[in-house]
Amino acid sequence: DYKYGFHDPEFLQNYKGTHVIYPFYQALPILEKFQARPGDICVTTFPKSGTTFVSAVVEMILHYGDHDALTSGPFLDEKIPLMDCKESPFTKDEDLLVTTISNRPSPRKFLTHLGYEAIPKSILDNAKIVYVARNPKDVIVSHFHFVRSFVTMRFKGELEDMVDAFIDNKCMYAPYFDHVAAYWKHAQENKNFFFVTYERMCKDLKGVVRDLCVFLDRDLTEEQMDNVVHHCQFDNMKQVSNVNRTSLAEAGYLDFNISHFMRVGKPGNWKEHFSPELNAKVDKWIAEQRARFPDYKLEYQ
Ligand code: A3P
Repeated sequence: DYKYGFHDPEFLQNYKGTHVIYPFYQALPILEKFQARPGDICVTTFPKSGTTFVSAVVEMILHYGDHDALTSGPFLDEKIPLMDCKESPFTKDEDLLVTTISNRPSPRKFLTHLGYEAIPKSILDNAKIVYVARNPKDVIVSHFHFVRSFVTMRFKGELEDMVDAFIDNKCMYAPYFDHVAAYWKHAQENKNFFFVTYERMCKDLKGVVRDLCVFLDRDLTEEQMDNVVHHCQFDNMKQVSNVNRTSLAEAGYLDFNISHFMRVGKPGNWKEHFSPELNAKVDKWIAEQRARFPDYKLEYQ
């Protein structure tokens, strides 16, 4: 059954309102045991919204603009690991990911794609959350290329299938709008929350860095902030094997011959992919979803 382009459209399980792949679904009850504490930093995104980009920025800020923060030591995805998985290229034991993070010194850094209802409450209560939202049209295109290159997912569909997968909540971490709208609402009410768009990061990274320094309580000089901005430019990050997810390619998860993880790195790439018909379909979906969340005011570029 190749509906939605996936070999097995039932590979997703609903965990507290978030659709996750089965191995992650099995791991999530373990994550409930995780105790966040003040000082923790949790990068939170819907996948393909700028997770890696903001993770690099956070890591650089914590190291006062020192490029070694990206180029040396473990891969970025080990320094700021995805919590919601059973195993990663670095851990093969179910519990290990959580215990590894638990035993790290402060400031502990980790990331999740889980929706608001599914994220462990202790993280919402105690950690500083850095949330990135991205125009859903670009998220769809980026997601499409990502799953094409994701070996075990065996996605054989077209972009049209990916659009249907988004609309029918048949893609990882769907539903998209519930995700952004719930975190957006939380961000309005909570000072331990930094909400930024991918588009702003691309347009005004210096401004974002400045604001993030305040949020993370780090006092960087102008030069240090400029270093963060410089080294987190797409073309510069793409060169660094520690951050461009070579780790996932080497571990056999991603096939860079199909698509690079660091692919285009610009807002508006959907315009080169969407036919007028597909765009109309997505616009209709967006309008319907906005009607479900009237308080969600974020405008996409
Ligand atoms: P594209 O596929 O549109 O190029 P995530 O890290 O959440 O999976 O998001 C991946 C997307 O962020 C990809 O988008 C990738 O190219 C883009 N990206 C990664 N680093 C970036 C950077 N430094 N500047 C701009 N975009 C970046």
